[in-house]
Amino acid sequence: MENILAPAETRPAAPRLPAGPPVLQLRNIEKVYQTKTIETVALHQVNLTIGKGEFVSIMGPSGCGKSTLLSIMGLLDEPTSGEIELDGRPVQSYSDRELAALRNQKIGFVFQSYHLINDLSVLDNVELPLLYRPGVGGKERRERAYAALDKVGLSPRTSHFPGQLSGGQRQRVAIARALAGRPEIILADEPTGNLDSVMGEEILDLLLHLNREGTTIVMVTHDEQQALKTQRLIRFFDGSQVS
Ligand SMILES: Nc1ncnc2c1ncn2[C@@H]1O[C@H](COP(=O)(O)OP(=O)(O)OP(=O)(O)O)[C@@H](O)[C@H]1O
Ligand SMILES: [Mg+2]
Repeated sequence: MENILAPAETRPAAPRLPAGPPVLQLRNIEKVYQTKTIETVALHQVNLTIGKGEFVSIMGPSGCGKSTLLSIMGLLDEPTSGEIELDGRPVQSYSDRELAALRNQKIGFVFQSYHLINDLSVLDNVELPLLYRPGVGGKERRERAYAALDKVGLSPRTSHFPGQLSGGQRQRVAIARALAGRPEIILADEPTGNLDSVMGEEILDLLLHLNREGTTIVMVTHDEQQALKTQRLIRFFDGSQVS
């Protein structure tokens, strides 16, 4: 498989796909966290539409609700009120079983803190989400995991454990794990936040490449230069979209 971390000039340019129909729509989303001592309005009146094939970045100060927004978009958390539509269909109309399948198959998540399992090898970490995938047997699982690791340039590290990798390599494992599921949508929470600028550039190039291949991407970032390379930049402040 093509190594997409190779220098850009050695790779053929892929055409950028136009933004298609809405894949993800949020309407009047509110998220309130209630603890014993404090109520936090993490998201307030959020209305957002993500088109098929778009690459959207989300910026805003720490605590403004970016990770909360991504969790709600990825169906990992429920809003306190408001509506979410996936492919034009309200999420409430899906059964629990359909929702679990959507979460597992349609959406790939790259978490702010990698979420790798330290006792499992790189290969086993990448295979893990495919264990729950009906119709994907052991052989296909392994092939997909190898292909995804190859894509992020980590073929020589498949039998390492996460603790034996650099931060950038761990982040690439987390991306390979999302890729192995061949998701239509990637939600990436500060995928370059813990990396130096060179490695950060490489990860962004990887995401830009996946987007050119047709994957819809929503990325939280603190890096304005990176955000400007994506198709659309959304800014948040105190739980609300400000631009
Ligand atoms: N499980 C929770 N229980 C209570 N409050 C929470 C919970 N998760 C998040 N919050 C609060 O909700 C607000 C938004 O948090 P969130 O993690 O979405 O911010 P963020 O924009 O991702 O910040 P950062 O840039 O630091 O990652 C914060 O004030 C946070 O303290
Ligand atoms: Mg966050």
